[in-house]
Amino acid sequence: MNFDIKIIKANESKIDTIDFNNFSFGSVFTDHMFECDYIDGNWTNPTIKPYQPISIEPSASVLHYGQAIFEGMKAYKDENDEVWLFRPNQNFERINKSAIRMAIPEFPKELFFEGLTKLVDTDRDWIKHGEGRSLYIRPFIIGNEYAIQAVPSKNYKFMIICAPATLYYTKKLKVLVADKYSRAASGGVGYAKAAGNYAGQFYPTNLAKELGFDQVIWTDSNEHKYLEEAGTMNIFFRIDNNLITAPVTDTILDGVTRKSIIQIARDQGINVEIKKLSIEELKNSAKNGSLKEIFGAGTAAVVSEIKGFQHKKEYFELDGQKDSYAEKLKSILVGIQTNKLQDKHNWRYKV
Ligand SMILES: Cc1ncc(COP(=O)(O)O)c(C=O)c1O
Repeated sequence: MNFDIKIIKANESKIDTIDFNNFSFGSVFTDHMFECDYIDGNWTNPTIKPYQPISIEPSASVLHYGQAIFEGMKAYKDENDEVWLFRPNQNFERINKSAIRMAIPEFPKELFFEGLTKLVDTDRDWIKHGEGRSLYIRPFIIGNEYAIQAVPSKNYKFMIICAPATLYYTKKLKVLVADKYSRAASGGVGYAKAAGNYAGQFYPTNLAKELGFDQVIWTDSNEHKYLEEAGTMNIFFRIDNNLITAPVTDTILDGVTRKSIIQIARDQGINVEIKKLSIEELKNSAKNGSLKEIFGAGTAAVVSEIKGFQHKKEYFELDGQKDSYAEKLKSILVGIQTNKLQDKHNWRYKV
């Protein structure tokens, strides 16, 4: 295996053409990308090159059978212009967990970290200072064999692209609890970051948006009884002073933010319960006033407060909380990510 990464620099940077105060998340990309192909049983030809279109044949297996997985992580710049990743090993392990489930060959660790850090370092000027600012990093793998046979692809392409990021949700969210559609079923691929998991959510999420909601909270596909997660966030409920979140099963993505929030909350002396919470319990707690907060947690969304939820025809709105757990946990998380707070769990990773 050849792990020497070839670097071809862009002749000119696009950075001066971007208005960093006015762009939509995920639509602007940095100057470079990382690319590595899987051919004849080996990951080969790792290259950093100018961000550009890729060429694949119409018969490429990803276009027909959806063998595609991805990751989402961020890099942050501190006041001394040092660049930090947050728990990148978790993303590395998760992409390979997704790979195994989708019959994709695992990606080598050394090459993942080499490609990732060299790419982020090359495009470090794209990481700006300021609240919510970071670089969103998107590693992904696609099946790239040119044959329309419904079998695992023989060839693959691993890539990393990067997009400057600002705050994802700037307002509190209104969510609809799923009672008909499902995101994932037991025995399926819900725990993998498989592309199709997201495509399958678009239609029911659009229906929810037409009704004025921002997101769907998915429930278990057997009974639509237990609350699972949101489209791109794990979800937390504060009932009295207990913070509750669902256990990660094979239908829920094992979020890096989720596990970090659980640890930070415990460090703060907050009682965290990892348990299945039913929609009935949630509605009862809203009715008797013990439900204080709901928030989502994810790399893109960070910590996003939810102000109201609807189940079937019943809508519940939460009063704002003075000593909000969401705000407190978010500020500690962001403080660690941006090197403003002590990192006692060794989560930061210097680029
Ligand atoms: C379905 C889903 N759940 C939860 C999350 C949050 O995971 P993380 O905190 O690792 O970003 C994401 C985003 O990656 C997601 O896509």
